[in-house]
Amino acid sequence: MMVCEYKPGLEGIPAAQSSISYVDGQKGILEYRGIRIEELAEKSTFLETAYLLIWGELPSKEELEAFEHEVRYHRRIKYRIRDMMKCFPESGHPMDALQASAAALGLFYSLRDLHNPAYIRDSVVRLIATIPTMVAAFQLMRKGNDPVRPRDDLDYSANFLYMLNEQEPDPLAARIFDICLILHVEHTMNASTFSARVTASTLTDPYAVVASAVGTLGGPLHGGANEEVIQMLENIGSVENVRPYIQDCLERKAKIMGFGHRVYKVKDPRATILQKLAEQLFEKFGHDKFYDIAQEMERVVEEKLASKGIYPNVDFYSGLVYRKMGIPTDLFTPIFAIARVAGWLAHWKEQLAENRIFRPTQIYNGRHEIPYTPIEQR
Ligand code: ACO
Repeated sequence: MMVCEYKPGLEGIPAAQSSISYVDGQKGILEYRGIRIEELAEKSTFLETAYLLIWGELPSKEELEAFEHEVRYHRRIKYRIRDMMKCFPESGHPMDALQASAAALGLFYSLRDLHNPAYIRDSVVRLIATIPTMVAAFQLMRKGNDPVRPRDDLDYSANFLYMLNEQEPDPLAARIFDICLILHVEHTMNASTFSARVTASTLTDPYAVVASAVGTLGGPLHGGANEEVIQMLENIGSVENVRPYIQDCLERKAKIMGFGHRVYKVKDPRATILQKLAEQLFEKFGHDKFYDIAQEMERVVEEKLASKGIYPNVDFYSGLVYRKMGIPTDLFTPIFAIARVAGWLAHWKEQLAENRIFRPTQIYNGRHEIPYTPIEQR
């Protein structure tokens, strides 16, 4: 067998062949199935983009209507899932609640007919449709309220915001939220997608695939960074405190949240779009002082770290957008999962098409031939 050099974090090692998305980290380009995200953010919807990623082509009008219809009518969750979620501790993180609920779906839909396109489609529809319902249900139940039933007359994003706040959202806020989902839906071979593909490669069910990816997305070096960005902005508190804060981080060699990316060495194109969306929200619903702090951070970090290719990533401005919509900070990562589930499912489908179970190797650096020491002699 060929002996390869060990690369921590598998940096630069291809883990799959994929035609789902493409990133040029030097030029700041992100494409889904060959289409630039700027174009999709302007012209598409989340469900249309999800369809594109999963089935490879933009849907016709009829195909899109059929997909939207199916998702709309699968939004309700079984009362047993809801009752199970009621038993979750209110202090638990919503990502943990989501991971448990996504895995529990597999108990109700235990058939594994992975070669049947109808099974694939049903699973895709069910996961995309119910994950927002589960996120909103946990949010209400942890406050002691009953969950709100989904509304069939509302579009995907408007319905989620309605279930969360028990009132119909402003149309601009709903459209901006939908664009945020488009921006988060897919991003090549990141940690959670890798996790999804490894799990998929064992031919388990799609609920286990999504549950494993949700668990991976929750960490602060991945999806969890957007929560930490808001905490950081709150801790900094004023524009004057930005420079000393960054100086201190650099001296302690601490990571500045919302900056840096394994692939992008320029500003993440999603951050550029999100910044514009944040500005639209502030224009309509009032300014946010944390935006001034964020802009100053971007200036100072560029001054200090541009030579290392450290610029804002997708998480830097997404939190400001969600915060302005009144969404609690610990729902930011579950919202990331609402979007990313479509990307994970595209990878699930692609993995199944040419599956080989993941079984990498390791470089053993432990000991050999050690005699067993009886417990009383240790
Ligand atoms: N703040 C300060 N310095 C940084 C940052 C940062 N956010 N990110 C990287 N660097 C520096 C490192 O200290 C290192 O410097 P050195 O060469 O002098 O030691 C150099 O840049 C390379 O950094 P690595 O950690 O090796 O880069 P890696 O590709 O492994 O990490 C990561 C990428 C995890 C995203 C990192 O930039 C980070 O931790 N950022 C903050 C957390 C964050 O925002 N995560 C969200 C990422 S986007 C997403 O997952 C959706």
